[in-house]
Amino acid sequence: MEKKDPEIITEKGLMRNWSRSMRAQGKTIGLVPTMGYLHQGHISLIKEARKHTDLLVVSIYVNPGQFSPNEDLSTYPSDFQGDIDKLMALPGGVDVVFHPYDLYDYRNNGSESGENDTSKIFDAKDEDGREKAVVSCIEERQSGHETWIRVERLEKGLCGKSRPVFFRGVATVVAKLFNIVEPDVAVFGKKDYQQWRIICRMVRDLDFPINVIGSEIVREDDGLAMSSRNVHLSTEEREKALSISMSLSRAKIAAQNGQVSCRELQNSVIQAIQEAGGKVDYAEIIGQENLEAVEEIKIPVVFCVAAWFGKVRLIDNMEIDMRVM
Ligand code: PAF
Repeated sequence: MEKKDPEIITEKGLMRNWSRSMRAQGKTIGLVPTMGYLHQGHISLIKEARKHTDLLVVSIYVNPGQFSPNEDLSTYPSDFQGDIDKLMALPGGVDVVFHPYDLYDYRNNGSESGENDTSKIFDAKDEDGREKAVVSCIEERQSGHETWIRVERLEKGLCGKSRPVFFRGVATVVAKLFNIVEPDVAVFGKKDYQQWRIICRMVRDLDFPINVIGSEIVREDDGLAMSSRNVHLSTEEREKALSISMSLSRAKIAAQNGQVSCRELQNSVIQAIQEAGGKVDYAEIIGQENLEAVEEIKIPVVFCVAAWFGKVRLIDNMEIDMRVM
């Protein structure tokens, strides 16, 4: 198969110029935002995006805005050349890899940039000396960035409970990427179900003229949902982590066989993960659209799980729709 070199663009102005000149030639543009270290899950997003537009941009950017200072930003895996090789091997390749160095560095943007003193944000303590503000790696670096998009209700539950800056960081960087790349279509993985729904809501609420597509979860042969974090699992932890997908599959079958009490289904998944040695962060059955908890499965739901195996936090989910069996 003929290999195609993607154009690598690192400057946002150049990226925007490329998109605008392609659009002027009547081309449609797809975007797959990633944080790199590409695996088959990403490849499936790229293949999905290929179906919808003439040209394809893949962004590779580990976004510090979605990590708290105590999270795994510094150990987030990366292999830029490996990523490019994988993209080149794809049928049709990709047209552009957008690989900005720092999307929160505004020094070339105008006079205000870099002049803000944000130190007060994280100096603010309550009476007991605890930090009042929720802080991401961006504020810690004091780049002067202070505008955040919050999808207020959808970001609260599930991962939002233990990762308070995560979704505002995701929504903000995705909005930045949308403004820079100006795609017609953007593809996100349904493995990050809450993220996908949040992006859909942001696009609707802020009138981005972009069609957001959710792409199905890609699993290893044994059922483990693909994730960049899987490389951090030891062989033993990886084996134990299968309890997530296996218990979710059993719960889905049980629901399809008429067991509709969410409490029972949730307890069975929690028990299976705990017995395997995992620490459950959440196991919740929620409405697919509004992400609100349900007691009985009557509407299309999604069973979302987050659990720790050793130092690795994994998420997975399964959609359950009684109309589609
Ligand atoms: O899912 C991811 O990899 C990231 O959250 C995203 C959407 C690329 C934003 O940084």
